[in-house]
Amino acid sequence: MAEEKKILYSGMQATGNLTIGNYLGALRNWMTLNEEYECFFGVMDLHSLTIRHEPAEFRKRARDLFALYIAAGLDPEKNCIYFQSHVPAHAELAWILSCYTYMGELNRMTQFKDKAAKHSDNINAGLYTYPVLMAADILLYQADVVPVGKDQLQHLEITRDIAQRFNGVYGDVFTIPEPYMGKMGANVRSLQDPSRKMSKSDENPNASVYLMDDADTVRRKFKRAVTDSESEVRYDVDNKAGISNLMDIYGAVTGKGSDEIEQEFKGCGYGDFKSAVGDAVADLLSPMQKRFQELRNDKNYLDGLIKANDERAYYSSRKTLRKVKKKVGLTEV
Ligand code: TYM
Repeated sequence: MAEEKKILYSGMQATGNLTIGNYLGALRNWMTLNEEYECFFGVMDLHSLTIRHEPAEFRKRARDLFALYIAAGLDPEKNCIYFQSHVPAHAELAWILSCYTYMGELNRMTQFKDKAAKHSDNINAGLYTYPVLMAADILLYQADVVPVGKDQLQHLEITRDIAQRFNGVYGDVFTIPEPYMGKMGANVRSLQDPSRKMSKSDENPNASVYLMDDADTVRRKFKRAVTDSESEVRYDVDNKAGISNLMDIYGAVTGKGSDEIEQEFKGCGYGDFKSAVGDAVADLLSPMQKRFQELRNDKNYLDGLIKANDERAYYSSRKTLRKVKKKVGLTEV
């Protein structure tokens, strides 16, 4: 009998335009791992509700994200790609797990603090309990591995803590998930201020390269990237944060290590290096953009996929939820 594959779970919020940070930190690794694991990839539309959206625009973005996963190369027949909000077990398990999560733990979440500072007019309870919903996403499918960028590690840690606490009381209910990060690209920084991460919601459009940016825009953004007053392409995060970030991006795209990149650009100025990074990223994005447009124009095909995958996710989610309800003593009929 064929050995059962281990389970991989990940997802992205349907908020804003995806950046190469999302691609290099997460999506790319999903592709690397997806043959080896049974995969679930969520369009995390419930998480996105923690900030306000114009409804029609939000609906479009969520669908765009679904299409983008496929355009990036994930096979929707082999991987379960679905909408979080279409599977009620996420919200149900999140409630149960919130009763096994301490406020002290949630108070420590740096992303909550950052987001609360950014949206000070709307510090809602969802923003605060966000990591519990994320724990529910992951634990519901009994995930072994969760490929994410560095900014999500703290959320993975609390997921593991909640799962261990629950298992401690009720026996082995949840698989304890491990995070997965690539060697390069797990922490892509802003092109205008390398002390900050590249983010979908940055107000400065030159700070982020979006997956839908055309080739000229990509090259221009890299040309304008903030570096330092030297001219040597050398990996040194403390003293050359801008150049190190560009090396990280170039390495993640080409598969080259930092030593190899230093050799390749020995004696060249920053201008040549920036052009090479811009070209490499533009070449990476263009086939994905073409495929994305084709998919977005084929409404019936997408609708069929959404329906089929929602059903798969729904079915997989019920098993764990049923077990959890039984363990905590909820009445069965
Ligand atoms: P989100 O939507 O902010 O980001 C999606 C993925 O992209 C990674 N990422 C980055 N990686 C490297 N450099 C960057 N600058 C960068 N910016 C973003 C993120 O680490 C993430 O892997 N809470 C999650 C969504 C989520 C989730 C889950 C993820 C909800 N439930 C369950 C995994 C499992 C989030 O907001 O990601």
